[in-house]
Amino acid sequence: MTKSKNSNLHKARKLKCDEFYTTLSDIEKELKHYKDYFRDKIVLCNCDDPRISNFFKYFSYNFEFLGLKKLITTCYKNQQIDLFTQHIDEKAIYLEYIGDKNDNRVPDSNEGDIKNLKGDGDFRSKECIELLKEADVVVSNPPFSLWREYMAQLIEYEKQFLIVGSLNAVTYKEIFPLIKDNKIWLGHNNGAKEFNNNVGNIVKFGNIGWFTNLETKKRYEDLILYKKYYGNEAEYPKYDNYDAINIDKTKDIPCDYYSNMGVPISFLDKYNPEQFEISALGNSRENFTPNKDYINPKKHTKDDRIVNGNAINCVLTIETDKKPYGIVYYTSNNSKYLVPPYARILIKRKTNI
Ligand SMILES: C[S@@+](CC[C@H](N)C(=O)[O-])C[C@H]1O[C@@H](n2cnc3c(N)ncnc32)[C@H](O)[C@@H]1O
Repeated sequence: MTKSKNSNLHKARKLKCDEFYTTLSDIEKELKHYKDYFRDKIVLCNCDDPRISNFFKYFSYNFEFLGLKKLITTCYKNQQIDLFTQHIDEKAIYLEYIGDKNDNRVPDSNEGDIKNLKGDGDFRSKECIELLKEADVVVSNPPFSLWREYMAQLIEYEKQFLIVGSLNAVTYKEIFPLIKDNKIWLGHNNGAKEFNNNVGNIVKFGNIGWFTNLETKKRYEDLILYKKYYGNEAEYPKYDNYDAINIDKTKDIPCDYYSNMGVPISFLDKYNPEQFEISALGNSRENFTPNKDYINPKKHTKDDRIVNGNAINCVLTIETDKKPYGIVYYTSNNSKYLVPPYARILIKRKTNI
């Protein structure tokens, strides 16, 4: 991911700037893989102003094709009919759509039942939770600033879902265990995406995924492994504080190695639970237990400052004899130079067949 795309996402989270809208083409590209799930189902889009949401557009226009029973869309706070919601009004509306009534095969404005919500349409409110209970499948792009809570609610109410989120969410302490235990996984189209923002511009984020608990065939496709570990050991350094080899790119996972490996989080896009098992996240002591503690660790910043380096005791790290140049590295009383790779997931091949 480029730095600017990453910092866009960071800013969105920090400023609670949740107003960016999923494009119809991204929704179509992803939803086409799940069409069998929607027959006779009630779909809820609960962060979606029906007047502007492409999720509403997709499901209302494909209502008959998918065989839906009902589509419910709730919007947050605003009732102004302009292009982008400004949250001027504290009251919100919701819309129920049960299909085309006049056989013209498009959802006309008089075919949806628009109702007032008592409150502001917060997905956590009692009335919105009642709608959630009624729904079979929840599909949306929720506010990034409330993403953990949003996911926790879907899990609590045992809903099926397909939602957009930052791929960095896989490292959240509430989310990673769900991924590890195969309760949620990534959908099909993960990576860079464009959204419309609330002033009508396009914003790009580099690290976006679809999170779901709907089964897909893709999830059981084997990752083809072609590289060898034995004979190429130098390409796969062992961590200094954990018994595993480091792999920088998912495509470089060797075909002849059956012990622990640390892989980038983008591996999850290719993760087949029949081929691999996930054991831990490599960047928090809550998840993995390092086999070594660094004494008096120091962090050396890119601009040559030396600061407290305790963080090195919570991440996988690689030791090197050569002084690193132009990157952050660590030293300690009981090591040489230490360079932690970017966030890693610890995995293992499942069988040796
Ligand atoms: C990332 S935007 C996505 C909008 C829409 N789902 C889409 O994909 O185009 C998240 C939306 O959630 C709404 N929102 C913010 N806080 C909310 C809350 N507490 N409950 C429900 N929706 C909320 C925002 O107004 C915003 O429109």
